[in-house]
Amino acid sequence: MESNSESPLIQVEGLEKVYRLGSVDVPALRGVDISIRQGEMVAIMGPSGSGKSTLMNILGCLDRPTSGRYLLGGADVGAMNDNELAEIRRGRVGFVFQTFNLLTRMTAQENVELPLLYSGRDRRSERALEALERVGLGERARHRPTELSGGEQQRVAIARALVNQPSLILADEPTGNLDSKVGQEIMSIFGELNQNEGITVILVTHDADISAAARRVIGLRDGLVVRDEMQDGAER
Ligand SMILES: Nc1ncnc2c1ncn2[C@@H]1O[C@H](COP(=O)(O)OP(=O)(O)OP(=O)(O)O)[C@@H](O)[C@H]1O
Ligand SMILES: [Mg+2]
Repeated sequence: MESNSESPLIQVEGLEKVYRLGSVDVPALRGVDISIRQGEMVAIMGPSGSGKSTLMNILGCLDRPTSGRYLLGGADVGAMNDNELAEIRRGRVGFVFQTFNLLTRMTAQENVELPLLYSGRDRRSERALEALERVGLGERARHRPTELSGGEQQRVAIARALVNQPSLILADEPTGNLDSKVGQEIMSIFGELNQNEGITVILVTHDADISAAARRVIGLRDGLVVRDEMQDGAER
């Protein structure tokens, strides 16, 4: 799913998602068009219920659109079967969530090793340690989540997202449970991964200070893109 300058990494056209609740249809996305190039860092903003998480889940191949097209690295995601989607999720996409989603009975290192286990990679403990070192947590490898601060737990989650060398990281309100100082530290990690390693980063946030770290902001409202602009003075 590498893409050259002509073909974007992510291209969605007329994307719609309707959740069916009993006999009621809930339209969450109502025709979204977005194109994102490899190496971009994008913040998605918008009020609660505007469809941000729905969009992220589709971009990360966790869910399928009701209609519309999604091309990832030029490949038509809509035409893929469940195995192909799972393979993309495992190998190409890293997820980071608001609530960290670490397994509490495992150490930091074991949490980071999990995706390697699922994708059948070797040298698991070595790779997991390397990933923890990349987020500055090499010394905490044997700690369990309850023995780590919120910011440290989120860094473990970022290491877990990184360990399979994804070209795309999707983070849904990654700083939502952190105070603003720690939130900025997490953002600088995403910024470094984006700048130094060319990883495409797409993150959802409610916070304008957090979105300032991204060069581009996409605004959603009622399931539609209402804003898509480059910001001046973004820290790169
Ligand atoms: N599994 C689901 N079943 C039915 N409706 C859903 C489901 N998930 C989301 N929705 C609805 O779809 C719309 C968009 O939800 P979504 O979670 O994408 O919003 P969001 O922008 O992420 O909001 P928030 O900022 O609160 O996280 C909302 O109206 C929501 O109620
Ligand atoms: Mg959400």
